[in-house]
Amino acid sequence: MAGNRTFTMIKPDAVESNNIGNITQMISDAGFKIKAMKLTQLTKGQAEEFYAVHNERPFYGELVEYMTSGPIVAAVLEKENAVIDFRNLIGSTDPNEAEEGTIRKKYAESKGRNAVHGSDSDENAQIESNFHFNENELI
Ligand code: RTP
Ligand code: MG
Repeated sequence: MAGNRTFTMIKPDAVESNNIGNITQMISDAGFKIKAMKLTQLTKGQAEEFYAVHNERPFYGELVEYMTSGPIVAAVLEKENAVIDFRNLIGSTDPNEAEEGTIRKKYAESKGRNAVHGSDSDENAQIESNFHFNENELI
């Protein structure tokens, strides 16, 4: 992936509030190319595995419950400097701390229900993309 791809999810709160289109537009306007995209729903096992890094944290149970509460959109995005640029586009985890013009500032409900996920490293971008898409789907 050599630093030019990241993985995102539009989370259940943003799908439920009909913001798939608005968020996808912001992603495209920021210069990201969509390389793979699907509407899907995580099983409890998948959500537990995806967020396993947080399994000791007090919010883990709530996070798994939230991430399985409805459909999500999973997508692989391409752009130079994708991981860092996408984290800048989504803004801080807590929308109260997110900068103006970021996706979370506009669409996140709270620190827990925060509209989008973005990979935090090139390595995790690759792991997370492979978690959601098979080889044929990753062009
Ligand atoms: P993400 O992994 O989803 O892109 O979010 P992030 O890096 O900005 O934040 P992270 O620390 O990785 O936390 C993962 C997700 O857990 C939920 N969370 N809730 N209630 C809380 O204090 C709390 N803290 C984190 C959020 O959904 C967060 O995005
Ligand atoms: Mg994270």
